Amino acid sequence: MKDPDEHPQPSDLELPPDEMRRLGYHVVDLLVDRWTNLRDGPAWQFSPRDELEPLLWGPPPEEGRDPDQVIGEVVDRVLPKAGRIDHPRFFAFIPSSPTWPSVMGDFLATGFNVFQGTWLESAGPSQLELVVMDWFREWLGFPEEGGGLLTSGGSAANLCALVAARERAGNPVDPVLYVSDQGHSSLERAARIVGIPSESIRRIPTDEEYRLDVALLAEAVVTDRAKGLHPLCVSANAGATNTGAIDPLDGIAVLAKEEDLWFHIDGAYGGFALLVPSEAESFRGIEKADSVTLDPHKWLFQPYETGCLMVRDTQTLEGAFRILPEYLQDTALGKEHVNFADRGIQLTRGFRALKIWMSVQTLGLKAFREAIETGIRHAREAERYITGSPALEMMGPSSLGIVCFRFRPPGSDMSKEKVEELNLEIQDEIVDSGFAMMSSTRLRGEFSLRLSILNYRSTWEDVQETLEEVVRVGKRRLGKGGLG
Ligand SMILES: Cc1ncc(COP(=O)(O)O)c(C=O)c1O
Repeated sequence: MKDPDEHPQPSDLELPPDEMRRLGYHVVDLLVDRWTNLRDGPAWQFSPRDELEPLLWGPPPEEGRDPDQVIGEVVDRVLPKAGRIDHPRFFAFIPSSPTWPSVMGDFLATGFNVFQGTWLESAGPSQLELVVMDWFREWLGFPEEGGGLLTSGGSAANLCALVAARERAGNPVDPVLYVSDQGHSSLERAARIVGIPSESIRRIPTDEEYRLDVALLAEAVVTDRAKGLHPLCVSANAGATNTGAIDPLDGIAVLAKEEDLWFHIDGAYGGFALLVPSEAESFRGIEKADSVTLDPHKWLFQPYETGCLMVRDTQTLEGAFRILPEYLQDTALGKEHVNFADRGIQLTRGFRALKIWMSVQTLGLKAFREAIETGIRHAREAERYITGSPALEMMGPSSLGIVCFRFRPPGSDMSKEKVEELNLEIQDEIVDSGFAMMSSTRLRGEFSLRLSILNYRSTWEDVQETLEEVVRVGKRRLGKGGLG
């Protein structure tokens, strides 16, 4: 009798190598087709739940199905019903446009199933994350002791920064966080998690360019100290989500030092613009921060989820997060063998550094710098176009690829509400047509359309045609007289 264990049957979870190759090549073909035809399709497609549910709802099958059919369903029913965030005319929110080598990096990291939490389990990947962190450290101008870790995104990075700030200050009672009135919502969420209630978040007013007012910040700190509270941290914007504004980093750095505040900079979307020489002056002071959030999945052209927190002294992070339970005692290999799990929230982490490293190695940093520079240039051209157009008006200066504007022809003495209604209609019509995707916001209470020009594929024609479309649709709707 043959021992059944001698030649174990493959698990039902395994596929034969030929089938793995066939399916893998099929998926690559699908992706390359998508990428090469991206411009021809809509920038966005919406589906209500009552349309999607009948297509997709159902219990998990007990037996597996034909994999081609499964992929086909995903490609037909799921993936097209979403924003095509890397479409050249997707200008909404904060777009992301990964490069092909970075996608390959993610595929490899997933296929090799790297556990990037401890050096013991991932020496090579940990070394590569150190390399990438060192690139970022140099770009920021941080000292040798500086470093960081890759996170799921900017929200996680902002959270880790607040934890580090709180721990360095000795976990004080009544901590206070200072952000500009343009600060990102993830900071408020992070504050909740670390135990800073909303009443202890000071939203410092900004100037006419949406930059934090340092004098008002100083006053707020003095007032809080007088009340016996503990001013803990100031978070400045290096690319506010609404307007792209960069706060006066240098001035805030001086105040933070005087007042012993942790100086955090949220550069989630805008931070990588410091690679562009013409922007260097606006980033002056970033090198004095205690921590900086950077999102490679935004303006460093990486796929989701790739965020990053950099700190000027890695001990502040490791001091805040390091815990060594007995079941991980084998992983303590000495300080030089960094366990990235000791720097943040996750023990199990994916190998995010690979996509960054592979894409920069393959394409060269110059290409990244130029792509960021082009986005900034297009936004400035858009500002000139809008300023020169009698039908459009800017809602603030363009900054770091973001343009806030609205349709408002002269002589049409519309109320604020009518202007808003008309602009909403314009936005809806353009977005529904799939021609371009743009979002809206509110600046000092006023409705604004908003273009975020960060995609390396976007040309000036894409931007110009979108603005022309706003004017065309606006004039037609005005002409109809419905809003008069
Ligand atoms: C300035 C800023 N901070 C933080 C975030 C949050 O980042 P994430 O969405 O990667 O969590 C964003 C997202 O757009 C952002 O623009």
